[in-house]
Amino acid sequence: MSYNITLIPGDGIGPEVMGAAKAVIDASGVEINWDIVDAGEGVIEEYGTPLPEHVIESIKKNKVAIKGPVTTPVGKGFRSVNVGLRQALDLYANVRPVKTYKGVPSRYEKVDLIIVRENTEDLYAGIEHSIGDIAAESIKIITKKASDRIVEFAFDIAEKQGRKKVTAVHKANIMKLSDGLFLRCAREIAAAHRDIEFSDMIVDAMSMRLVQSPEKYDVLVMPNLYGDILSDMAAGLVGGLGVVPGANIGEDTAVFEAVHGSAPDIAGQNIANPTAAILTGVMMLRHLGEFEAAERIDNALARVLSEGKAVTSDLGGNTKTTEFAEEIIKNL
Ligand code: NAI
Repeated sequence: MSYNITLIPGDGIGPEVMGAAKAVIDASGVEINWDIVDAGEGVIEEYGTPLPEHVIESIKKNKVAIKGPVTTPVGKGFRSVNVGLRQALDLYANVRPVKTYKGVPSRYEKVDLIIVRENTEDLYAGIEHSIGDIAAESIKIITKKASDRIVEFAFDIAEKQGRKKVTAVHKANIMKLSDGLFLRCAREIAAAHRDIEFSDMIVDAMSMRLVQSPEKYDVLVMPNLYGDILSDMAAGLVGGLGVVPGANIGEDTAVFEAVHGSAPDIAGQNIANPTAAILTGVMMLRHLGEFEAAERIDNALARVLSEGKAVTSDLGGNTKTTEFAEEIIKNL
């Protein structure tokens, strides 16, 4: 059995960490025909867009893609490739498992969260306009359809993974209509899943609680922007952006990508931590049903991290990105 999978290397540290992830996945023995396609600023001159049609077509055909980070200009320039992809393919659920790994320095020991972030609407959709040069307006849209399906997705994950608790995160005390709708949907869906404990929390309080006692939380479900912010914060609870994977899931298509960005400050130096990219590959293999290979990679990675001898500079070592991947391959 072999799989056709789209691979977007991305830019900045993208090609480095994705190169490491691809090498490890290939070494696991799972046979993959990679369709490697580029997106981002580098392709604008050739295709007139950072997200060419053939990239979307490749993912639609293969149904599974793995993607490195793509730089988005701040405050001006082209629209985010990531937001474009999520909307074009209706990848409505962004799933980010945040877990402590032995050997990865962090302030906490037993964090095991899954952040489920709505991925298509909210302020993060970037619908905005200027009112002359004196003001600007961003439009926050929350729909019942998107709220229902993301909360349903969160309960589904909780049930499939034998988890105990779902917490809906919102700001319905202030945004009574938009976040209020999200919360109402969450409560209705929770009522149909009595086997899983449900609670809700305002996003500011949630931020404090996560910093105080992250081990008390399990599955968190929230609208897009809160998910963007809280998942980076949660990465900080377990050793940083270098170790947190992610997936964008739609009805029949999935694009796997780590939480971190293109890290221009360390790009091109072969020092980025590929753990997040490799764990993203592990999520992809589980999605394909390749559980044995996924487990082997996960265990090899955990072993290398816990030994602490060959880790990248963000974790206090001086191992290069490529050497780290080789170390995991040796441990497979
Ligand atoms: P970033 O995640 O790229 O970097 C934040 C900090 O974390 C930096 O100090 C960086 O060196 C460090 N870091 C990130 N990943 C690391 C890794 N694997 N190993 C070691 N250190 C790592 O966030 P930033 O700087 O806000 O964004 C840079 C660019 O990436 C922006 O253009 C942004 O739009 C884009 N971005 C793209 C994403 C995607 O394509 N999925 C996601 C997030 C940001």
